[in-house]
Amino acid sequence: VKRAEAERMDAEDAIGWLRDHFVFDDPGLIYLDGNSLGRLPKATIAAVNEAMRAGWGSRLVRAWHEWIDVGQRVGDHLGKKLLGAAPGQVAVSDSTSVNLYKLATAALDTRPGRRVILSTSDNFPTDRYILEGLAAARGLELRLLNPGADGGIGVEAMKAALGLDVALVSLSHVSYLSGAIEDVPAITRAARYAGALVLWDLSHSAGAVPIELDSWGVDLAVGCTYKYLNAGPGAPAFLYVRHSLQTRLRQPIWGWWGQREQFAMGPAYDPARSIARFLAGTPPVLSLLPIQVGVDVLAEAGVERLRDKGVALTELIVRLWEAWLEPLGFTLSSPRDPARRGAHVSLGHAEAYRVSQALIEECKVIPDFRPPNVVRLGPAPAYTRFVDVWDAMDRLRKVMDARAYERFDPRPGRVT
Ligand SMILES: Cc1ncc(COP(=O)(O)O)c(C=O)c1O
Repeated sequence: VKRAEAERMDAEDAIGWLRDHFVFDDPGLIYLDGNSLGRLPKATIAAVNEAMRAGWGSRLVRAWHEWIDVGQRVGDHLGKKLLGAAPGQVAVSDSTSVNLYKLATAALDTRPGRRVILSTSDNFPTDRYILEGLAAARGLELRLLNPGADGGIGVEAMKAALGLDVALVSLSHVSYLSGAIEDVPAITRAARYAGALVLWDLSHSAGAVPIELDSWGVDLAVGCTYKYLNAGPGAPAFLYVRHSLQTRLRQPIWGWWGQREQFAMGPAYDPARSIARFLAGTPPVLSLLPIQVGVDVLAEAGVERLRDKGVALTELIVRLWEAWLEPLGFTLSSPRDPARRGAHVSLGHAEAYRVSQALIEECKVIPDFRPPNVVRLGPAPAYTRFVDVWDAMDRLRKVMDARAYERFDPRPGRVT
């Protein structure tokens, strides 16, 4: 595979112009973080400045008249543009962890006789820990299924695990580790047939992979906004609760933002009859507004084109892995079939941590390392060029040829 081929793919890229919407302070840096923090959209700077100056600075507390519904407004926008959700079912609030806790708790309360929570051993740690905590608090069993060889659980393994004792199934749409995509509608249907609710984590799919929550029949979902949605570090997360379930569920944090008549300041909790009942406290307005911008930027390209480019970018990684890196001992830790893979590719190697360090410190390439042995490459389709992928893979093979990673400390730092 020649670099000229990557150049040609860039020239033919239908959404190459989207890159201009983002800040590139250092044009030489190849950013393939996959994906823990998306890039900063230029328009976010103006939007946050305006909210600070005209809102906080000038209107002071009066600005709350505009901000009061911001979590639901931005949630509706995100739902419409990227999640296939009709209005009134998505809200932005809190972190993914807290939203997962709220919805999992509410779901378990509706299945009192059942004592099993199903998830996967490669689900994101916070998901596993929160489910573990819920199981411990309620005397339930958390059963973790092991993914297949290329990642992913699949419908058949899930069907085999479902029984009348399962209350809740909690899975990631796209695995943070392998990038494997689960079949959301089929697994949701199978779980419903077995009488369980399903809670999906969309953190690694929202903005990268087409999602149709309403038509897929999804019950519950959560996800973060700082990855492909490019809303910035610590931007609040979203949650989705299907209309027909909303008044049947009660979340455990009885905060005033979930109260029906919030400013009546009444004596007792009386939850809103809407998605608002899944809110808890005051939203972080300045962190929340960038989600609106992030969604707008992606919507200009449309999720179908983002997905097509994501497939083409990850296919290029896989081809280069096969040509250059497989002979050097790297394994493909992601599905080979692009239809079963999200927007990142994981490459396995015993020296994955030191190789990542060498790329960051000496090659101006930012991947991330995930234990035990994965170099994760996330060519975010909104702003990554095909030549970026080619150059990064070329530098990676050179690191291996020169054994440049041997100069680095094998002990991982505080953040990997
Ligand atoms: C699948 C998944 N869930 C949850 C989280 C993190 O949740 P929180 O927003 O609470 O930090 C991440 C973070 O990378 C993630 O990848």
